[in-house]
Amino acid sequence: MSHSDDLLWGATSDLSRFAALLTMAELGLADHLAQGPLDTAELAGRAGADAPSLRRVLRELAGMGLVRLARPDVYDLTPKGTALRSDVPDSVRSSIRMLGEEGFWYAMGMLPATVREGSSAFVKRYGHLYDHLAKNPTSSSLFDDYMTRRALTFTEGLAKRYTFPAAATMVDVAGGKGHILAAVLHANPQMRGILFDLEHVTAHAAQTLAAEGLSDRTEVVSGDFFDSVPAVGDVYLLASVLHNWDDEDAVKILRNVRRAMNPGSRVLVLEVVLPDDEAPHLGKDIDMRMLAIFNGAVERSRGEYAALLDRADLTLTDVVELGYGANLIEAVPR
Ligand SMILES: C[S@@+](CC[C@H](N)C(=O)[O-])C[C@H]1O[C@@H](n2cnc3c(N)ncnc32)[C@H](O)[C@@H]1O
Repeated sequence: MSHSDDLLWGATSDLSRFAALLTMAELGLADHLAQGPLDTAELAGRAGADAPSLRRVLRELAGMGLVRLARPDVYDLTPKGTALRSDVPDSVRSSIRMLGEEGFWYAMGMLPATVREGSSAFVKRYGHLYDHLAKNPTSSSLFDDYMTRRALTFTEGLAKRYTFPAAATMVDVAGGKGHILAAVLHANPQMRGILFDLEHVTAHAAQTLAAEGLSDRTEVVSGDFFDSVPAVGDVYLLASVLHNWDDEDAVKILRNVRRAMNPGSRVLVLEVVLPDDEAPHLGKDIDMRMLAIFNGAVERSRGEYAALLDRADLTLTDVVELGYGANLIEAVPR
């Protein structure tokens, strides 16, 4: 079998495996199995599922190493499957549920139509993602959990590989629930932070920051970055923000940040940076989701980020690799 055949059959299997994983996450199978093995009929009863259908999904999940047969027709959770439990610190359950939501499936399935027309089938049906999330609290909470989970892959790198100015105030522009801000403040005890995001998101951010014991070093501000951003920062962080917008909108956001900065401030753009070659890359995979879900959202190369920053009167000074494809791009006022 040639490499391209492997890739082809691998991708079709990945689709089936993802559907089985989604079923496990949606039906809460790992939670039901947390106290010990159950036979399929009992598990189906607890999960509100059809036992013969569930049996087939369990067989697939066993092949993926997420459950195992303890006895005939009795399944147990494996250590790998434990990550699907809701109550473990590194739970991936809500992230899987988010990626498997009806709108996200629809977006990926409709990618051919999106490419034909040059505009997102998702946006046509559901509207702009952030308007959609503002109207759907469950989806919004799954999305925020997903972003938190994704950030866990690089927050350690951010704390260890980048030197923040001492006693600085960082504005986390469109910071979501504040998980990245919290990680930076924990690693830099003299810093203070401002979390800035849309109102339906900041409503939950204060709780997250309080739970982190950071209420006294943080402030939460609601607003729209197309209007303005808080003008008190020494550091402006834009994490996974610019890749959601086309060049014109990305430059508008950067110009509003630039306006808020003082001459000594710096901006940090945290994004997956695309390589300039043909190699497989996480950023190219994420770019398919950007293409499917937004109009104009795009992953960019270092050169493309430098050009955007330049249009906002900012000069790129450094790029620090944080791991898992994430990079921190530093820029200062020109
Ligand atoms: C992909 S998430 C990134 C969240 C966070 N920075 C992170 O990396 O986990 C993009 C964020 O942009 C926020 N956002 C979208 N439109 C916005 C706007 N017009 N003004 C302010 N924030 C906005 C969303 O609410 C969301 O939290």
